[in-house]
Amino acid sequence: MLADPAVYGAGVPWQEFARRRRAAAVTWVDEPALRRHSTAGGVRSHRGSGFWAVTQHAAIVSASRSPTVFSSAARGAFLADPETAEDLERARQLLVNMDAPEHGRIRHLVTAAFTPRAVHALSASIHDHAARLAGRALAAGGFDAVADIAAELPLLVLADLLGIPRSDRGLLLRWSNNLVGFDDPEYGAGSVDSYRETFGEAFRYARDLAARRRRSPGDDLISGLVAANGTGRRLTDQEFCQLWLLLVIAGNETTRHLLSGALLALAEQPDQVSMLVADPGRTPRAVDELLRWVTPIMQFRRTALADTELGGQRIRAGEKVVLYYISANRDETVFRAPDRLDLGRQPNPHLAFGVGPHYCLGSHLAHLETRIMLDAMRPYLADLRLAGPVTRLQSSFMNGIKSLPMTVVSR
Ligand code: HEM
Repeated sequence: MLADPAVYGAGVPWQEFARRRRAAAVTWVDEPALRRHSTAGGVRSHRGSGFWAVTQHAAIVSASRSPTVFSSAARGAFLADPETAEDLERARQLLVNMDAPEHGRIRHLVTAAFTPRAVHALSASIHDHAARLAGRALAAGGFDAVADIAAELPLLVLADLLGIPRSDRGLLLRWSNNLVGFDDPEYGAGSVDSYRETFGEAFRYARDLAARRRRSPGDDLISGLVAANGTGRRLTDQEFCQLWLLLVIAGNETTRHLLSGALLALAEQPDQVSMLVADPGRTPRAVDELLRWVTPIMQFRRTALADTELGGQRIRAGEKVVLYYISANRDETVFRAPDRLDLGRQPNPHLAFGVGPHYCLGSHLAHLETRIMLDAMRPYLADLRLAGPVTRLQSSFMNGIKSLPMTVVSR
């Protein structure tokens, strides 16, 4: 059931994760047949090979720190296997799907442009966006916390970060929905055509943008990336486009689902809110707990390059291994009372941003956005209530909410 996107439409299968985690660090999962369609191949059903689910914290840390055994490049870092050699080739141009030494070279180029200073420089505009979005939604009384707040803030921030006119942010939303929501009937609906078209359209946009920044460089991340010189050579056009699209996707859905998941958690557990409202200094720690609680990216995949052993389980070369960060974040051997939201939790060694050489490059930005949004909503947090049914994304990758009706009650 862990590999079936439809299951997650009804919520994260917490009990299944807990059952597996208690049984062993690593357990086998059969994959269901999933519907795929394309003009070339028509509608067909595709069943993956099955995989080893790693659900205990320590085993995930260990596998993540052994990238020479547990590869991101061999078959990519996503659960679904690439269908063709070209699909694998295309996937491998994304940073998440690379191994050393290529991974180190590209990551170095991004880190050089994506400095804490560059992130900090966005603070003022994030404050403005957050205050405006919160003000508008809260003044209306009833609002959809996804459409009106959680989806909007990361899009506006990414537009600023990636040098896109704010009026084009709808494109980012569509691309990211189509790619990440590939399995959801409302978005990608399993259409391979739409998946490939989205890549093409986004790449054309990125190529134009790079050409403009080369002609007239500015002080932004894009100008930094197109000029970036790592060990020996610059990013090729193709590499730039891949990186740009990765930032569009990685910086968008993830933060959206963290913000919406956080607001849902706070509305459901008002006892925690009073502490946050009383002491703004606690917000950074609270954001870490909300990251643990939501874990927007539930898993990433690796492939064993050699026969090996992980958490007591023998794994053969070529087998698929899936690291369930969402389960690690409820591991009772690491977190006391893991099923309780505790905004003051410390220490909090959550794995929401992964661990090891692929550790999230946008963690500071995501943290900053969430802190600023919670600050903007602070005066109203204690009065937020759910105002209708929550609709969840059908995805075995993202713990996502599609719609979250909320209201502010008057006291
Ligand atoms: C709450 C928000 C976010 C979460 C939960 C999250 C989570 C993650 C995780 C789990 C990984 C590890 C991938 C792996 O294990 O293979 C990752 C990698 C990455 N993230 Fe994030 N992320 C978030 C926000 C962002 C933002 C805002 C950006 C940039 C704008 C970003 C950019 C990246 C990039 C470029 C990588 C690839 C790093 C590599 O492969 O070396 N992320 N993220």
